[in-house]
Amino acid sequence: MQDKIKLVSEVLSQARFPVIMTGAGISAESGIPTFRGKDGLWKNYSAMELATPEAFNKNPEMVWEWYNYRKNIILNCKPNAGHYAITNLKKFIPHLVIITQNVDNLHRKAGLDFFYEMHGNIFEMRCLQCNSISINEETSKESLTCSKCHSKRVRPNVVWFSEPLPASIMPHILTAVSKADFFLSVGTSGSVYPAAGFAMQVRAQGGQVAIVNPEITEESSSRDIRIETTSGKALSTLAQLMEG
Ligand code: OAD
Ligand code: ZN
Repeated sequence: MQDKIKLVSEVLSQARFPVIMTGAGISAESGIPTFRGKDGLWKNYSAMELATPEAFNKNPEMVWEWYNYRKNIILNCKPNAGHYAITNLKKFIPHLVIITQNVDNLHRKAGLDFFYEMHGNIFEMRCLQCNSISINEETSKESLTCSKCHSKRVRPNVVWFSEPLPASIMPHILTAVSKADFFLSVGTSGSVYPAAGFAMQVRAQGGQVAIVNPEITEESSSRDIRIETTSGKALSTLAQLMEG
């Protein structure tokens, strides 16, 4: 294990265009349930059933209730060693590009100031009337209104299944992935596209892929450096090696 992390540190320090992508697994050690893990269901519904425009159109109250439930959990959680290690890695390697599929804000809370949130942010809402985005840390059922036009037709500012990814940042993400000579995937099941395809793309263009996940996932290949442990352990060791 130690040898593999050492190898990752060597590849990372030589990479010209390194990218790290995180998924729900990096926040598991903070106490936030992953989507496809054992606590991933809410009232017997899965994310695949709730995180869709159809579910919201049919029953916005229920979808808001699910988001309020998750926001409540997240507000009581703190970043863990894995998040802090990524913040440190970015300090040592300023050209490192960090992409997250998480909407939980924990990278920001861990002091990371520049990264791409490809699935949005759970603490923002978007007005369906005027499109403006505002902060929303409210977790009660009280009716929410847009701060600009006061419409009550507001939704979480996150990406749902079948929806396009944020147009403002996707070109930057796709450019970073298309140039990447090193791609480290952390704590994702690799089942939601396009994120799930990034590792394959980097491999195809001759880059090295490394995966941190206690389990072997669909996106991994035998050519990858597979670190089968938790992100807290793996990333803090990696950050120490990069620092030393
Ligand atoms: P998943 O719940 O699908 O996968 C979490 C992964 O984290 C699994 O492969 C676990 O083995 C791994 N894991 C668990 N504990 C870990 C730990 N301590 N350290 C490292 N890895 C650990 O979550 P995502 O892959 O992030 O999308 O899910 C992708 C997307 O599906 C989410 O962004 C969300 C969801 O529906 C949207 O909401 C659009
Ligand atoms: Zn509005």
